[in-house]
Amino acid sequence: MPFPPTAVVLLGASMSTQDSDIVIRIENVSKHYQMGDTLVKALDDVSVQIQRGELLSIMGPSGSGKSTLMAILGCLDGPTNGSYWLDGDYVHLLKDDRLADIRGRKIGFVFQQFNLLPRTSALDNAMLPLYYNGVSGKQRRDRAMQALELVGLSDRWHHRPNELSGGQQQRVAIARSLVNNPAILLADEPTGALDSRTGKEIMELFKRLHDERGITVCIVTHDSGVARQTNRIVHIRDGKIDKDERL
Ligand SMILES: Nc1ncnc2c1ncn2[C@@H]1O[C@H](COP(=O)(O)OP(=O)(O)OP(=O)(O)O)[C@@H](O)[C@H]1O
Ligand SMILES: [Mg+2]
Repeated sequence: MPFPPTAVVLLGASMSTQDSDIVIRIENVSKHYQMGDTLVKALDDVSVQIQRGELLSIMGPSGSGKSTLMAILGCLDGPTNGSYWLDGDYVHLLKDDRLADIRGRKIGFVFQQFNLLPRTSALDNAMLPLYYNGVSGKQRRDRAMQALELVGLSDRWHHRPNELSGGQQQRVAIARSLVNNPAILLADEPTGALDSRTGKEIMELFKRLHDERGITVCIVTHDSGVARQTNRIVHIRDGKIDKDERL
């Protein structure tokens, strides 16, 4: 089904031109949950900017707010308070359908459990995001094949997930995340379900995509070994940014 034209989703202020290298900018973002008498501050007044072409990680212990932050950055959920600009658009006041449209065009997601369709080939899995963007059948195939080449899996295009190793499945998921040419790739614990050697290979792939293709990558992890392979670590604790470390 076609999405509304781009102009419809541009709401409110756009960022000024000197901010065009900023992919993500959140200011004073909070996310609160009322649980009976207790107010849980999953995120508490968080401000962060991500430049185009960065390879960074968001690191913190369990319950620190990483997935909550990731859900907001990925337009899967809205904040309780604060402002959010994504690739120049002021997004935090958008309704669900508009958010879904922006998400589909601007964000590539990679998850711990790969989230591939089981009875579907690597090629068809990689093509999936293009069904919602009005791309023709031939173009879908070509672009998905290119994405599989980029992750080194073009010779496995016809394999189903259960005919691939964990690392190969995660490569298909990465190909799927890239096929729309998103402004940023968000990965939540992308090596969490893999053994350490395969996890290293996946981190090498992210680094290569960043170094050779200039792709902006944000990796959420509790693992300092993973975080140290990126160029910047945003440390989060109790819903607040503890330290913003350039490596
Ligand atoms: N839907 C919700 N309702 C109530 N509280 C929530 C909800 N989602 C998250 N929280 C709370 O917000 C805090 C942050 O949770 P979050 O899932 O973001 O942590 P995390 O850093 O991703 O942890 P982990 O490393 O275990 O995945 C936790 O205290 C959690 O219990
Ligand atoms: Mg989490």
